[in-house]
Amino acid sequence: MNEPVETPPDRRRVFFALWPDDATRSAMSRATRRAVQVCSGRPIAKDRLHLTVAFLGDITPARVDLARAVPPIAVGAFDLTLDAVGVWPESRILWFAPMAPPDALGELEAALWDGLVDRGFHAADRVYRPHVTLARRARPVEEEVVPVVWPVVDLALVESFTDGQSVHYEVLERWPL
Ligand code: 2AM
Repeated sequence: MNEPVETPPDRRRVFFALWPDDATRSAMSRATRRAVQVCSGRPIAKDRLHLTVAFLGDITPARVDLARAVPPIAVGAFDLTLDAVGVWPESRILWFAPMAPPDALGELEAALWDGLVDRGFHAADRVYRPHVTLARRARPVEEEVVPVVWPVVDLALVESFTDGQSVHYEVLERWPL
């Protein structure tokens, strides 16, 4: 998704995500500054950086409540080491990602989808590639990064608002892991 697409009326665009603390945001931003410059894409503002765990799309308010009933998911707090940057040619997203995602993240994603499917949601039919989007419309980059260790302590449900020009996010609720 490269351009903000407006949410239909009576629908809310929501997703479960890992939402970084301020220190982790600053570390991510510092570690990736050069890659963001070199890719000459449209950077994502520091306060919007996040890692999506489950994207639910544009859903009715009643289904938002159903999704809200799925957590907590007690996989325990874990460290997530972001240590690779790259660009996917198909989406032209510049991403920051763990080369070896911790088991806890996979368990969290699987348990979340189990709960969502039990409540009538349809699991994404693509492989989960955990990443933080840093910029869009990026050119390929080959940059080394200083790894960032993100102490993940909770799961967030986030709503995305767009007026067709810009996007902003609001954390609706957080649950300790
Ligand atoms: P992206 O940054 O890789 O585009 C809010 O839009 C969040 O949901 C972003 O992290 C975005 O990932 C993710 N997202 C948007 N559309 C999606 C889709 N169709 N499937 C999975 N994740 C999506």
